[in-house]
Amino acid sequence: MAKSKYAIQATNIHKSFGKLEVLKGLDLKIHRGTIVALLGPNGAGKTTMVRILSTLLRPDKGAVSIEGYDVVKDAHSVRSIIGLTGQYAAVDEYLTGRENLRMMGRLYHLSKEDTLRRSEELLEQFDIVGAADRYAKTYSGGMRRRLDLAASLIATPPIIFLDEPTTGLDPRSRLAMWDIIQNLVTQGTTILLTTQHLEEADRLAEYIVVIDEGKVIAGGTADELKSKAGRERVQFTFERDSDLKKAEKIIDGKTLEVDKKLKGLSVSNDKGVARVRQLLEKFENEKVRVTGMSLSKPTLDDVFMKLTGRKATHKDSHDESSDKKEAQL
Ligand SMILES: Nc1ncnc2c1ncn2[C@@H]1O[C@H](COP(=O)(O)OP(=O)(O)OP(=O)(O)O)[C@@H](O)[C@H]1O
Ligand SMILES: [Mg+2]
Repeated sequence: MAKSKYAIQATNIHKSFGKLEVLKGLDLKIHRGTIVALLGPNGAGKTTMVRILSTLLRPDKGAVSIEGYDVVKDAHSVRSIIGLTGQYAAVDEYLTGRENLRMMGRLYHLSKEDTLRRSEELLEQFDIVGAADRYAKTYSGGMRRRLDLAASLIATPPIIFLDEPTTGLDPRSRLAMWDIIQNLVTQGTTILLTTQHLEEADRLAEYIVVIDEGKVIAGGTADELKSKAGRERVQFTFERDSDLKKAEKIIDGKTLEVDKKLKGLSVSNDKGVARVRQLLEKFENEKVRVTGMSLSKPTLDDVFMKLTGRKATHKDSHDESSDKKEAQL
C-alpha cells in the first residue's frame, strides 16, 4: 500500500451541479486510525464530499488521496481499501437479511468461511438475527438501515465512510451503532462520518470539521469548538425581585445577564465550583434567597450559532423524514 502522512487528504475540492456550486474549496486531512466528523446542515455538501472521497463522483477541481492513491486516477485501488455506507439504504429487497450479507461478502471477495463468519457476527451485532431469514422488503426502515450498515462493514476495510450512520435508527440501535463505530476505531480503522447531530459528533469524533454551504467554517475537537462559543456560565434564580437586585450588585461583572421575568441572572464562570461556593456564601451573608442554581457549558449548538448566526435547532428525533424537515442548523 502506498505510504502517505494522512489516510485521507483532500485539497481544494470544488464541485458544481449545473449552476449550483455545492463545494467551494473544501480541504480535509484525516490521520490514520482516527475518526473525524463532517458536521453540517441539510444541503451543506456532506454527501457530495463523501461521494467524491469514495470515487463515486469526480471533483471539478482539487485532489483527493486515500492512503496515497488518487481517487480519480487510481479509483480501483481506492475502492479496494474503503467501505461506504450511503445515506440511503442499498439493500436487495428480494434477498433475506442473511443473504444480503453473504452477497456483500462475495462482492468484497471474502473467502467462503470469512463470509459466513462475518455475516453471523454482524447479524448478531446489529440485532437482526430474528429477522435474518426474512426478505429485506419486509423490514422496517430502521431494520433496513441496520442491515445496510452491517453489509458495509462485512469486509472491515481500513477506511470507512459513514454518511449519516444513525439517521433513522431508534435510540437503542443508535447507541449500538456508536459502540460498533468506536470499536472499529479501536481496531485501527480510519472513519469519516457525516452527521447533522451535534451530540453524535461530540460523542464520537476526535476532530470535527464544520461545513456550511460547501465551505469549512471551523475545525477542532468538540472542546475546542465549544470554547469558541464562550465559557461556562452559572445561573441563579431568586425568590423576590429585591433578592435579584441585591445579587446584581454583589456580582456586578461584565458578563452578567439578568432576566427580570425569571427573577434570575447568569454570569460566566472560569473557576468552577469554587466560584459558585463563593457566590452562594456572599448571597447568604447578604440574606439573598436563592431558589435555583445551575451550571452550563457551551454546546455545539452554541458553536453553530456563533459561527453562522443561525440557531442549530434540531429536534433530536432520528426519524429520517422529520430530520429532513426540522433540521435547520
Ligand atoms: N446530483 C445532483 N444534482 C444536482 N444537485 C445536487 C446533486 N447532488 C447534490 N445536489 C445539491 O447539492 C447540495 C448539497 O447536497 P448534499 O447531498 O451534498 O448535502 P448534505 O450536506 O449531504 O445534506 P443532507 O444533510 O440533507 O444529507 C444540495 O443543494 C443538493 O440539492
Ligand atoms: Mg447528505
